[in-house]
Amino acid sequence: MSDEARYITTPIYYVNDRPHIGHVYTTTLCDVYARAMRMQNFDVFFLTGTDEHGVKVEQSAIAKGVTPQALADENSAEFRSIMGSFDLTNDDFIRTTDEAHTKQVQRFVEKLLESGDVYLGTFEGWYDEGQEEYHTETNAKELDYKSPVSGKPLVRATEQNYYFKLSKYQQALEELYQSNPDFVRPESRRNEMLGRLREGLQDVPISRTNFTWGIEMPGDEAHVIYVWIDALFNYITALGLGDHECEWYKHRNHYWPAAYHIVGKEILWFHSIIWPAVLMALNIPLPKCVYAHSFWISEGRKMSKSLGNFIDLEKIESYVNQYGSDAWRYYLVTQGPLGATDADFAAEKFHDIYNAHLVNTIGNCTSRVTAMIQKYFDGELQGEFNGDDRYELGGVDWPTRCADAVNRWKEALDNFELVKAVNAPMDLIRDVDLFINDTAPFKLAKDETKHGELGAILYQCLETLRIATLLLKPLLPEKMNEFHQAIGLTDDARVEMRLLDWGGLNTGTTIEKVALYPRVELTATT
Ligand code: MSP
Repeated sequence: MSDEARYITTPIYYVNDRPHIGHVYTTTLCDVYARAMRMQNFDVFFLTGTDEHGVKVEQSAIAKGVTPQALADENSAEFRSIMGSFDLTNDDFIRTTDEAHTKQVQRFVEKLLESGDVYLGTFEGWYDEGQEEYHTETNAKELDYKSPVSGKPLVRATEQNYYFKLSKYQQALEELYQSNPDFVRPESRRNEMLGRLREGLQDVPISRTNFTWGIEMPGDEAHVIYVWIDALFNYITALGLGDHECEWYKHRNHYWPAAYHIVGKEILWFHSIIWPAVLMALNIPLPKCVYAHSFWISEGRKMSKSLGNFIDLEKIESYVNQYGSDAWRYYLVTQGPLGATDADFAAEKFHDIYNAHLVNTIGNCTSRVTAMIQKYFDGELQGEFNGDDRYELGGVDWPTRCADAVNRWKEALDNFELVKAVNAPMDLIRDVDLFINDTAPFKLAKDETKHGELGAILYQCLETLRIATLLLKPLLPEKMNEFHQAIGLTDDARVEMRLLDWGGLNTGTTIEKVALYPRVELTATT
């Protein structure tokens, strides 16, 4: 990875399911990070895509009377289309049925066969048919021999399979966890993985013979490569690391290692134990951090189609239509399960957050300040303020306050602390509101001799809002852009960092009055 590169990935989504809040959530988190990094002129690569092989896809296709490829094409297209409809700015969309991916996976597996990290052997274990996942004896016992996901009994299965020598990497993984405590985050999830690691690692089967919808095992057509191994490789096949002749490699290899793999908590094992071991076996550097978020529940209960609380695409669209795409992103990112606990999606809470944060904080403050500039100065910005002390201005050193907020925002984003990154500009906006109350521009406006002071106050308010709204732009691209146009900033997604320095607004600029977030009725549709 060059110092300037930032590679961020979502899991690739199974095409046997339709997109829902879980998928949109993970992708939105990555989108905010990607936009914020682009804004700082990092060289960003943001990858998402679809996971298309495996027995579940094969079975659904048979049930529907179509080929697995046709089913994968249809559902993958639906996942791809959500990227456009929710302002998600991924740089590529990988499909595990892409030839460039399958060829590289076979090459990687070939290398693992050559090095002896993959071998043919017989396996017996507790298998979760729905999840296509084996459990160790200890783990199966803890689960009462039932699938933690479907509740169906685990079955005792015996197979001749190709194995990956995971046990060989026990010590190296322990060292990795010790020497790099940030490899898995948040910390509670890291501890869970450490616990499982300490139980001892066993070799894992990485091929299947009971179906054919998958990438063929090199040199043995009776086997297909296990869907999880196939899928994990997407993070490096998309950069062409398995084929140095390909175009992808030329333009993308510098993005590796990834800055962040963002995943849900239930797939952390694959990402934080199996994946680094596979990479070690291939002598490929490891990602910097695997970050596992928790789950959305809905109206206080686990999401389920039968309970009617499932947040599917139609439901998401109804929120976006009613409140706007920014409001949807805001709720997801600031109220979502980014930490170790699950988060509740509730219509009333959504409405309250919209009102409190978007209407009453950002909306109100931007409208208040622009309305005053309209009213008192005919919309012309006055009173450029460079820290001179001709006036008593409420005692706030805004240039320093803003610089601190920018630093807080940058640091939080680097650490993927997205809520902190949002709070930095939100605090600035709240402080502008207090400043207006303290300095009472409406009183100064009544006194001709105080107009210099009035202009300087409003300049500081608007300049602080300019900086705060730039910091909010990765999260609220649509409305912040609208605001920036109203205050005479150009619509440039690649905002250079110097725009975050104090003094970007010029006096004499025409400022339009804005009303960014309209009030919305809480209705039964949401
Ligand atoms: N195909 C695998 C990932 C392979 S990555 C090499 C997979 N796909 S998935 O479509 O089932 O899930 C994708 C993501 O959606 C996971 O990160 C999962 O945690 C997330 N979510 C699914 N339901 C969710 C919620 N209810 N809430 C939040 N995210 C959840 O797993």
